[in-house]
Amino acid sequence: MSIRDNKPLGMVINAAKPYEFEFIAERSIRIGELVTFETPEGKALGFVKDSRVNSKLFNDEKITNYHAAIEAKMIAGKNERDKCMVASINVLGLVDDFENNKRTMPSLPPDPGTEIYNANEEILKKIFIKDGKEWIRVGNLLRGTTDVYVNINKVASRHLAILATTGSGKSNFLALIIDRLADINGTMILFDYHGEYRYEDNKRNIHAINPHINPYHLTSDEFADMIGIRENADRQRTTLSEAFRKVKENREEKDDIWSRLLRELNTDEKNDVTVRVGEIIRMAQENLQSIFDEDIEDTLDQIRENKTNIIDMTDLNERQAIIVISHYLKRILNDRKRRSGRLSAPVLIAIEEAHAFIPSDKNDKNEAAEIISKIAREGRKFGVGLIIISQRPRKINQDVLSQMGSLAISRIIQPNDQHYIFEVTENIPNELLEHLPSLNPGEMLLTGQWITIPSLVKIEKVNEKLGGSDIDAVNEWSKKREESYDEMII
Ligand SMILES: Nc1ncnc2c1ncn2[C@@H]1O[C@H](COP(=O)(O)OP(=O)(O)O)[C@@H](O)[C@H]1O
Ligand SMILES: [Mg+2]
Repeated sequence: MSIRDNKPLGMVINAAKPYEFEFIAERSIRIGELVTFETPEGKALGFVKDSRVNSKLFNDEKITNYHAAIEAKMIAGKNERDKCMVASINVLGLVDDFENNKRTMPSLPPDPGTEIYNANEEILKKIFIKDGKEWIRVGNLLRGTTDVYVNINKVASRHLAILATTGSGKSNFLALIIDRLADINGTMILFDYHGEYRYEDNKRNIHAINPHINPYHLTSDEFADMIGIRENADRQRTTLSEAFRKVKENREEKDDIWSRLLRELNTDEKNDVTVRVGEIIRMAQENLQSIFDEDIEDTLDQIRENKTNIIDMTDLNERQAIIVISHYLKRILNDRKRRSGRLSAPVLIAIEEAHAFIPSDKNDKNEAAEIISKIAREGRKFGVGLIIISQRPRKINQDVLSQMGSLAISRIIQPNDQHYIFEVTENIPNELLEHLPSLNPGEMLLTGQWITIPSLVKIEKVNEKLGGSDIDAVNEWSKKREESYDEMII
């Protein structure tokens, strides 16, 4: 133990409660610091939730104008005793029980005069560094150096939400989880809406997938969505639906689905609607040929266990992405329910831009939202864990968000977003909310079931270059210029 550890930070003052109190400090105390102190039931751990400096000389009533403030400053400079540092502590629990992953709150407050200490490394290690393969290292304490581990089993069974404004390190964090999963042969299926996770196939545990769907496995409505017939274009939908049904009934024919659909349409007498549907089918043929695969028996054939399967959805628009997600997820959940299926072990499903697929607006219903909600509710029984990632928490469906057992939250500026998260999830300490706007990229509040206590953590940066990193336009322009300059010289 160093000398610093032995020196108290300050002592408890009046009106302490078992779960919160204030102490007078010798120096300014940083929010987020962890402290220890004795209670009648043993040593307890606390979290600095607030910190302030008071001054009698700078008291509001005395300082009525700028000159008074200057005088106060001169006097205060000569009078050390004027400054009074006070910190508010949230009691987290008894230290001994944390070591056994239990959380017990003391039932008695610390006595006035009880000394407050920095939580020393030895105690912090016992709390944050865990043995067992289910614990993965994600970074270190923001106020300190201790490594922080989280329990990935809790994500598989109780889900995780990663929420923060753009550029705060959400994708980096997911990339880190993917990297850690490689060490423990985890299975993940990641829907990559922006093509941010373009690792090389086969590198580490990565399996890249271009989504493929057998059009014959779609319902008529799904097919209509996929080829871009508007939801309220009833007559177009009916026309397509009839042709689609006939095509499905005689699958033996050799021609591909597009020409068969067009043929079925043409047998009818021509009218504006059939002509329009024909045009839509021809356009869709160009756009979707790479996604439709009529020979695929089971979508799940594309997925590899013990790997992170990255489904690249860059070429899809939002409607198409919704169909792809719902198509895959329905099959994954069904397969896990049957238990004898292709996915023999639990899977993690990661969904970037989650607000687009599980919108809070109930009128905005879509097939993906239905199956994602179902997984959020029932997934744990079948070993399907969700990781939802979003920069717009307020736009995420409340029922789904409330099922997320663990959270990783970084910078969030909008008070509406903060309050939404606070109200919908149970796990976030109120006083931490107001600090969310001040977090830097990679600094996250981890809370919920996957971590022993809610903590501010500096997440490790992954070396792998992600497509999502901020673009360095100036550098790229100058490189380009040098290249063309080289060419001119040659
Ligand atoms: N843990 C981290 N440590 C340091 N820098 C980080 C960290 N996470 C992200 N960053 C930086 O922030 C930028 C945005 O990260 P990214 O993960 O793409 O954010 P988001 O997905 O939230 O938009 C990246 O360019 C990266 O350099
Ligand atoms: Mg991102």
